[in-house]
Amino acid sequence: MRTVKLPVHLAFIMDGNGRWATRRLRPRAFGHKAGVQNMFRICGHAFHLGVRIVTVFALSAENLSRPQEELDELFELFRTFFDKKKEKLLELGAKVHVIGDLAALPADVAACMRALEEETSHITERLLNICVNYGARQDVLQAVNRAVALGRFMDDTSFHGLLLTAGVPDPDLIIRTGNEMRLSNFLLYQAAYAELYFSSRMWPEFSRRDLEKALVDYSSRSRRFGGLRAKEQE
Ligand code: FPP
Repeated sequence: MRTVKLPVHLAFIMDGNGRWATRRLRPRAFGHKAGVQNMFRICGHAFHLGVRIVTVFALSAENLSRPQEELDELFELFRTFFDKKKEKLLELGAKVHVIGDLAALPADVAACMRALEEETSHITERLLNICVNYGARQDVLQAVNRAVALGRFMDDTSFHGLLLTAGVPDPDLIIRTGNEMRLSNFLLYQAAYAELYFSSRMWPEFSRRDLEKALVDYSSRSRRFGGLRAKEQE
């Protein structure tokens, strides 16, 4: 692959599992299972190519309003991959950090997530953030409330320190699959200067080649963070 400039932090909105399954006349849970398998394939490839931080949107706070049957299926997937088949996550060789409000999840699911975080806490080379029951507005609001409670004015650096992503650099590239072009309450504060890439592929069919294509596209972009390119300043 001819990528020259990789994102340090790559984030995914893994959309389209349900539609992928429905088009195949299969239940939505079939799409979520395929989605998890693809998450391992794509995160593994991203780390293999040299990306250091990957963040995936596994369940939004708003997703909790889905029918209980679908939620139970998603919780069962979490149980499987954070506990019974945790080798799949461990094989990624990354520190796992679960970001979101785990209090609303079944207690055993939250417990196995925290246990896996503990088990991988010594790893420093790679980080995998898994957003579960996460909402960016909710995160900003809890940070504001903490700032108020502290009685302190915040600057950008200190505010970052109150977010659930504290200590993690902002995402450089956010890839959304599923042919939708929006951020859906994902990392809104942190995405201020993220490059966005939208793919019409449904998440289960987003391939390693598709990832490489997105990275080559990212590599060709000029990131100015509101400033000018060196040439333009002359
Ligand atoms: C969006 O597709 C996807 C989700 C709501 C869930 C994604 C979750 C996973 C891939 C599981 C992650 C698991 C682990 C172990 C980290 P959708 O259902 O909204 O698709 P649709 O837009 O086609 O309906």
